[in-house]
Amino acid sequence: MTEMPAYSAKYSQLVMPDHINVVGTLFGGQMIAWVDLAAGKAAFRFLRGADVDGSVTRAIEKVEFKEPVYLGEWVNFTSTVISAGKTSFTIEVQAHAEGRKTELRLACFATVVMVSVKKDTEGNYQKVPHGKSF
Ligand SMILES: CC(C)(COP(=O)(O)OP(=O)(O)OC[C@H]1O[C@@H](n2cnc3c(N)ncnc32)[C@H](O)[C@@H]1OP(=O)(O)O)[C@@H](O)C(=O)NCCC(=O)NCCS
Repeated sequence: MTEMPAYSAKYSQLVMPDHINVVGTLFGGQMIAWVDLAAGKAAFRFLRGADVDGSVTRAIEKVEFKEPVYLGEWVNFTSTVISAGKTSFTIEVQAHAEGRKTELRLACFATVVMVSVKKDTEGNYQKVPHGKSF
C-alpha cells in the first residue's frame, strides 16, 4: 500500500439517480458538495489535537470540471492540505471517476480554503488560530 501524505484523506461516492442533471451526467453542485466533504475529512485530520471546535469553508477556488461523470460510476476523492496560515489552511481536492469499463479519469479538481473556528461565550463560531505549522 502506498503511504499517504500526513494530512490527506480519501473518500468515495457512488453516483445514484438523484445526483443526475438534465443532460444525464453528475450535477456539478452535487460534485462541489462532495468536494467540500472530502476537504472536510483532510481538515479533520489536520486539526487533530488543535484547540478548535472545527473548521468552515471560507472559499472554494479554481473548481474545474474536466470530464463528465455518469450514473453508476464511483467518484474517488483525494484531499491534501497543501499550506497553512494563521487561522486558514488550503486543501487540494482531486476527484477521479471510475466506471465499470473505463480507465480511472480525473473528473474534477478544486482548491478549498478552510478556517478553524471555536464557539465564543455567546455561542457564535469565531475564527481562531489553529496553531499548526506546515
Ligand atoms: C470563516 C469566518 C469565521 C472567517 O472570518 P473573517 O472575518 O471572514 O476572517 P478573515 O477575512 O480574517 O479570514 C480568515 C482567514 O481566511 C483567509 N481568507 C479569507 N478569505 C479568503 C479567500 N477568499 N481566499 C483565501 N483565503 C482567504 C484570510 O487570509 C485569513 O487567513 P489567516 O488567518 O490564515 O491569515 C467567516 O468568514 C465565516 O463565518 N464565513 C462563513 C463560513 C461558512 O458558512 N461556510 C460554509 C459552511 S462550512
